[in-house]
This record gives sequence, structure tokens and C-alpha cells, in this order.
Amino acid sequence: MSVTATLSTTAPAKTNADVLAVPVFSGRVLGPGGKAIDTALGGTLGAFMEEAGFEGKAEETLAVPAGGLGARAALLVGLGDKKTVSADRLRRAAAAVVRRSPKAKTVATTLLDAVPSGGDRVAAAQALAEGAALGAYKFLRYKQKSDAPALERFVVLGKKDEAVQKGLDRGVAVAAAVAWARDLVNEPAGAMTPTQLAEEARRAAEEGGLEYEVLDEVEIANQGLGGLLGVSLGSDQPPRLVKLTYTPAGKPTGTVALVGKGITFDSGGLSLKTADGMETMKTDMSGAAAVIGAMSVLRAAGVPAKVIGFVPTTENMPGGRAIKPGDVLKIRNGKTVEVLNTDAEGRLILADGLSLAVEEKPDAIIDLATLTGACVVALGMKWAGVMGNNEGWIGQVRGAADRAGEPIWPLPLPEEYRKDLDSEIADLKNISGNRGGGALTAGLFLSEFAGDVPWAHLDIAGPARASADDGYIAKGGTGFGVRTLVEVLSTFEKPKAATRS
Ligand code: BES
Ligand code: MN
Ligand code: ZN
Repeated sequence: MSVTATLSTTAPAKTNADVLAVPVFSGRVLGPGGKAIDTALGGTLGAFMEEAGFEGKAEETLAVPAGGLGARAALLVGLGDKKTVSADRLRRAAAAVVRRSPKAKTVATTLLDAVPSGGDRVAAAQALAEGAALGAYKFLRYKQKSDAPALERFVVLGKKDEAVQKGLDRGVAVAAAVAWARDLVNEPAGAMTPTQLAEEARRAAEEGGLEYEVLDEVEIANQGLGGLLGVSLGSDQPPRLVKLTYTPAGKPTGTVALVGKGITFDSGGLSLKTADGMETMKTDMSGAAAVIGAMSVLRAAGVPAKVIGFVPTTENMPGGRAIKPGDVLKIRNGKTVEVLNTDAEGRLILADGLSLAVEEKPDAIIDLATLTGACVVALGMKWAGVMGNNEGWIGQVRGAADRAGEPIWPLPLPEEYRKDLDSEIADLKNISGNRGGGALTAGLFLSEFAGDVPWAHLDIAGPARASADDGYIAKGGTGFGVRTLVEVLSTFEKPKAATRS
């Protein structure tokens, strides 16, 4: 996918685009550029809209003849209520336009001028570029024929403004990072092994100007990463631990450590999943994909914080040497864990990842993981859960997710439930002894490895994968988390000392 997004001062009536897309607000209120189309059609646009039942609701589209316009075709795109237009509404509108125009190589649009005066045109430009580029995304590696939108040039009509062009460039770059993460997730587990995922991280490091270090299975054992090693034992594929480091040009605004769950296939191990439960488990490395994708674009995005990413990666398989329910593993920070259910494996490898992150003495940590089915029960397929040990830091992450258009919602880490993780023979066990609250007890387990560092945990089990196309999201891996990470790292402020949530 190589889409460019350019700001152009061309008049709507004079674009040479394949498609000219203009916004319409709900109630068929023509947005910017609409007059030009209406004039070209001899004032019949209202009749077209009425005839088609087009109302201008968000993401609604209606193709109309281009009349005497420069473009080959014109497309009306709904933006909903004019008073509540948001960056995400624009992102979705841009994607709707691209999806509705699969043959168009050049799409021009007046959507930017739908931003109300005083609104943030730079953020809007970024959202438009993200929406257009991601709307054109398809995973085609194994298809003989492509049916992806042909989009090459996305031309945003508007007055000249360097900052707005920068916003478009940033949107294209961020979308490419999201697409990269989606590719990693969509790749079958037979191809995206831990070794291959580490190789992809190396490529991201090369392209993104990052330092790259990797531990193989012998070094993982020698470094005391007992959780990662333990989970890997049931598989013939060797595990890897990847460390990526981004150092900004100027004095860093702080240091943030990222940890991404990289289970390239989760069979459940000896606590084997059902066939149904296993079907989508190639996506269990979505946290790792988010970290790799986001880190690939930090330099291009001019992120001012130092960022250290850890990706523990392994398969979770039931081979002859697999860990057994009742086995005890020793995590990097010295804590021992009784593994009573081998399907609660994510927290075991994240425990090592978080321990390594804490050793770097960062100002804050974020981990991302497709951690629990319970989080999907609680928040559904679109919303991620966020937990942590520092309200200020959680607030920063939530603010960034909001601006990035990735829905996340806070869940508690109730101290009353901590004793449910007490083990008879080890420091803790890997599943709760009580019913319910599975996302929370998983979060509580992780908190044991975050030390005193301000830490936020994103359980992305729901939104990491989409079961259907929706706006700029394509069925399959979504790359969830990449946009939030880039945003929160771009605006990072050191959180104040921990207050437990
Ligand atoms: N990878 C799964 C969680 C998951 C489930 C992600 C569904 C996406 C969709 C995780 O490793 C897992 O198996 N969790 C168990 C934990 C349980 C054994 C305590 C779960 O959620 O059932
Ligand atoms: Mn599992
Ligand atoms: Zn898992």
C-alpha cells in the first residue's frame, strides 16, 4: 500500500480526479464543494438525494453524475450532525469514500473544509489521511486476484497550510504502521513463527532507525525468563525476546517502556482450547504487532520521548515437553508462579517482559495484550480495557486513545481479589481461585511485575480482531493500539508518583 495525501488549492470544479467526494451533513445540508456539484447538475442535487433516500447520515454515500465538473464522478458522503463532527467521523468518512470508489486511483475531496472554524485542521487532516489509507487496506498475500481499492493519490482540497500538509503526511505514515501491524496479525501462524516475528521486528528497526536486540532460547533461559521459556516448552518452535530502542534527536521528554504479548499461536497448551476457541488464535500476537508497528514510525513522527519496546514471543502448544498444570515457573524478577491453567499463558510471558521493562527504570510502562476472553465479555469486540497503578498515567493513555479514535475503557484492579491469586506452593498462581472478573485478576497478576513504575495495561482481546469490515477497519487484524501508542508517546508527560487505582 503506497498512498500519498496532498493538500491542493484546486477548486472543487477543476480537479482532475477520478472521484470528487463532498460532504453532506444530516438533513441533506450540503457541505463545502456541494454547490459546485449542484451547479454542474443544474440544481438537481436535492432531487437526487431525495430520490435515493440519502440523508447525510455518517458514512452514508451516494454516487451522482459529475456533470460538467473536472472529476469523472462525484460522490456525496454523509457526515451526520454538523454540530458534532469529530476527527473520527472524518476518518470514517474518508474510508467510506475510498471503499465506495474501489476503481479510483485519484480521489479528491473537500472534507477538510467540513471542520468548523476554530477546529483543529491539522488533526482533521491526519484523520482524513488515516481513514483513506486504511480504507484501502486488504490482506492480499495469499490471494491470486486483488479486489482492494486502487487508491494511489488522496487529494485534500483546501487553502495552503504547511501544518495541514504535515498532518496529512503524519496520517499516511501512521496508517502504514497500522497496516504493518495488521499484516503481522493476518499472516498465518505457520508463517509468522516467533523467529519470523523477531525478524519482522528487525526489519522495523532497520526502517525506523531503532536499535535491535534479540535473545534466543538459550539466552532466554540464561537470563532467567522462566515464564517465556516455560510457555515455549510445548512447541517445536523456539521462543524469542526482542528489544527495540528508539532514541529521539533532542533531549527526551522521558522514557516509556512498551511490552507486547507475542503468542504467535495459542492452542491453550495442555489446557487445550476447543476447535472454535482456537480458530482465531493466530491473532494472539496483536500486542506485539502494535508495539512493532508503532515503533516503526516513531522517528518519522518525530516522537520526543525515548521508547524501549519488549516483545516476548512464543507459541503455546501441547507438545511432549509442555508445562503441565501444577508446574512452577520462576519469572525474571524472582517471583514464582504455579501454572494451574496453561491457557493463561499471556500473563506468564508478560511477567518476564514487564520485569525487564522495570529494570530499565522508565518513567512509565504500557503493555498491550490479547489477554482475556473475560475482557471481551465485559466490553465487547470494539472496546479495549485499561487497567493500571497510576490514575494520571491511565488518564494520559485514555486521552491519547480518544484523540486517536481507539475506544478504551477503565476497569478496576480490586485489592480484594488479589488473594484469589494466592498459591499453596508458590508466590502466586496464574488463574483466580474464584469465579468472574477474569480481566481484573489477569490485570492484578500483571501488577505484581510492574513494580512501582506508573503502568497501564491494555487488554485488547476484543478490538485486536474485527469480525467484519467497519469504516477504516477491515475484517481480520485491526492493528489496534498503534495509533494510541504513537499519540501518547508524541504528547508524553512524566506521570507523578503512583496512586493505586
Ligand atoms: N489469548 C487468550 C485470550 C483471548 C480469548 C483473546 C479470546 C482473544 C479472544 C488467552 O491466552 C486465554 O486463553 N485466556 C484465558 C484465561 C483463562 C484460562 C484464565 C481465557 O480468557 O479464557
Ligand atoms: Mn491462552
Ligand atoms: Zn493467549
